[in-house]
Parts: sequence; structure tokens; C-alpha cells
Amino acid sequence: MRTYLVTGGAGFIGSNYIHYMFHKYDNEIRIINVDALTYAGNLSNLRSLSHRENYLFLKADICDKKTIARIFEEHEIDRVVHFAAETHVDRSIDDPEIFVKTNVLGTAVLLNCAKAAWEFPDGSFQEGKKFLHVSTDEVYGSLEEEDGFFYETSPYAPHSPYSACKAASDMLVKSYIDTYQFPANITNCSNNYGPYQFPEKLIPLMIHNALHGKKLPVYGDGKNVRDWLYVEDHAKALDLVQEHGRIGESYNIGGHNERKNIEIVETIIDTLIEMLPEADPRKKLVSRELITYVKDRKGHDRRYAIAPDKIKKDVGWEPETTFEEGIKRTIAWYFENEEWLKEVTSGDYQQYYERMYKGK
Ligand code: NAD
Ligand code: TYD
Repeated sequence: MRTYLVTGGAGFIGSNYIHYMFHKYDNEIRIINVDALTYAGNLSNLRSLSHRENYLFLKADICDKKTIARIFEEHEIDRVVHFAAETHVDRSIDDPEIFVKTNVLGTAVLLNCAKAAWEFPDGSFQEGKKFLHVSTDEVYGSLEEEDGFFYETSPYAPHSPYSACKAASDMLVKSYIDTYQFPANITNCSNNYGPYQFPEKLIPLMIHNALHGKKLPVYGDGKNVRDWLYVEDHAKALDLVQEHGRIGESYNIGGHNERKNIEIVETIIDTLIEMLPEADPRKKLVSRELITYVKDRKGHDRRYAIAPDKIKKDVGWEPETTFEEGIKRTIAWYFENEEWLKEVTSGDYQQYYERMYKGK
């Protein structure tokens, strides 16, 4: 039975990936989820898996060399799927250091431990071992409206501390591929949305605020463009890349689904109004009047857009979920999981919100 070490599996994409993998492979695989459970990690995302004998959760920090090395010693790891990171651009602008630590040093520790566990004395690697580094399209910087798309050959030009640290971690993985022929792939994905996303990111923040009749803070002119992908499509792409991707290659993942932020916010409002039953008191709270233009994010990247040609050609992946369908599924999930939303927005979240949006 193949064993996966998933890092950051209690976060948004990691938990969706774990659900996807068990749904697809059931008892054919074993997953060990290593997560430090920062504010962004939530074990309730994975509650339904606690009965599984082929699932193990270990609370650990990926920067903790000793613990990570011990995990590789105690378990025969075949695949690493590395999600763990600090991921919010606004937080990185506010306090970059933890981004350097987790995203760069943490990746270095993981690479080193995997290499030590998988390498033969002659420098070759055990058959079938693979390391997948999950990264972002933000490493390529920003596009203008008239520019084309990001390709795997586009130069790295990160702007925010978050994307700079992700770029550094990608470069480290590349250096292991080039120097040691380390069996790794890198994926650079566009903005994800879907269930279990922490409400500091655009889509869940807008859903949460609208349902509470709170202002919807749109940065700048609201015309920045992101290329949105439903998270389950991302999970599928990651599995296909690990199964069929060419070792050492990078793959861009995205959906030709470019939208301006203001369009996203308006779609959320309209869809909420459409989906909420007449008798639901929240229906009266949701309206376009909640939209509030606020001070722009510093260094705000204008546009991201992915050309997913290579991943289609090499592994046959294409996005399957239309935005109209994905946003409905996402909103339905937040309706059904009000307790989850309450849980993650209690405590520190209130202070975070006050601090980040006070001056805007
Ligand atoms: P997230 O913030 O929801 O989750 C991150 C997880 O990592 C959390 O469970 C957290 O507890 C864990 N973590 C943080 N620091 C850790 C540490 N030091 N040791 C162990 N665990 C730690 O993030 P996400 O949105 O699920 O993103 C996952 C990965 O995908 C990240 O590497 C991110 O850069 C990449 N990515 C995200 C998007 C997106 O739209 N969200 C798009 C492209 C790429
Ligand atoms: P975000 O979800 O933080 O993802 P990223 O910055 O990694 O792309 O933001 C998506 C877009 O939405 C980005 O252009 C910033 C904008 N945004 C707002 O306008 N208001 C908000 O409150 C947030 C969180 C983001």
C-alpha cells in the first residue's frame, strides 16, 4: 500500500485533497497528515476520516527537523504532497517573517528529510518515490489586461512577501531537481475557491460578511483579475501530475476563468439572494449596497491568468467545474456548515479583522 505524507492537510486545499484522495483510492492508499494547526488549520475539516485505519494525523511543524526526520524514519513514505505554508498575502504584507520561516525553511527541511530517506549511497533514488511541491501562479508576478498568460517558461517576478517566499521555495525544489535529480514536481496553481476556505480570502470573506449584513470591502477599483479554480479540480490535477507528470517538470494549473473582483462580489450577492429561502432572516441583510470600496492593498498585483496547455497535453487534465456551478456549491457548503464558520471566526479572527480592515 502506497503511503502519502501530506503537509498542511488541515488547511483549505490540503483537506479537500485528502477527501478527494480517499474518495478515489479508498483503502488502496495510506495518508499521514502533518500539520502544525496554525490559525488556518482546522481538524474538523477531516472529522469524517477519524475512523479510518489508513489515515493518521500528526501535529508537527515542518520547520522542526528532528520531528520531520523521525516521521520519515518511522514510516515508509512513498509520496510527499507539500501544501503547508503561510498563505495570505495581506498577512505577509503585515508580518513577512513567519512566511520566510514556514514557506522557505519548512520546505528546505522537508526536502532534506525526503532526500535522506529516499537516496541510495550512490546518489540515485529509490524507485517510485515522488515529491510534489504545491505552489502558486503568484510567483510569476502580475499581468496587464493586454498581456497574455503565465506559462511554465514565464520568468519568476514575485511582488508580495508571500509570493517571494513561495518563489524561493520553488527555486529550492528546482535546485534539488537539478543538483541531485531529486524526483520532484512543482505545480503553480491559480486562485482556488470551495469548501473549508478560511474567511480571510476574498470569496469566503464576502459570503460570511454578506450573510451578516456587514460591509463588503473591495480593494482599490475592484478591477483586479484572478483566474478562479474550484478546489476539487485542483485536487484532481495534483493527483494526475503525481501519477503521470514527467519528473522534474513544473505544471501550471488554472481554468481560463478570469474574473474581476467586483464581478465575483456581485455574483456572490446575487447567488446568495437567489439561494436563500424567503423565510430566512438573512435574506433581508444581503444587498449590493454592502459593497464598499476601500484602500487598495500595497503592491496589489493587477491580473493573474494561467495557460494550462502543458498539463492538458502531458496528463490530460482540464478544469471541469464551471464558475457558476462551483460558486453555488461553495455557497451551499457555507450554508450547511454555519457551525464551522462560527468556530473559525471566533477568537483571534475578530482581532485580525479589526486590525486589517480598520485603516481601510
Ligand atoms: P491554508 O492557509 O488554508 O492552509 C495551510 C495549512 O498549513 C494549515 O492547515 C496550517 O495549519 C498549515 N501550516 C502552516 N504552517 C505550518 C507549519 N510550519 N508546519 C506545518 N503545517 C503548517 O492554505 P491553502 O489555501 O490550503 O494553500 C495550500 C498550499 O497551496 C499553499 O502552499 C499555497 O501556497 C498553495 N496555493 C494556494 C492557493 C489558494 O488559492 N488558496 C492557490 C495556489 C497555491
Ligand atoms: P485573496 O483571496 O487574498 O487572494 P490573492 O491575493 O492571493 O489573489 O484576494 C483575491 C483578490 O481579492 C485580490 O485581488 C485582493 C482582493 N480582495 C478584496 O478586494 N477584498 C478583500 O477583503 C480581500 C481579502 C481580497
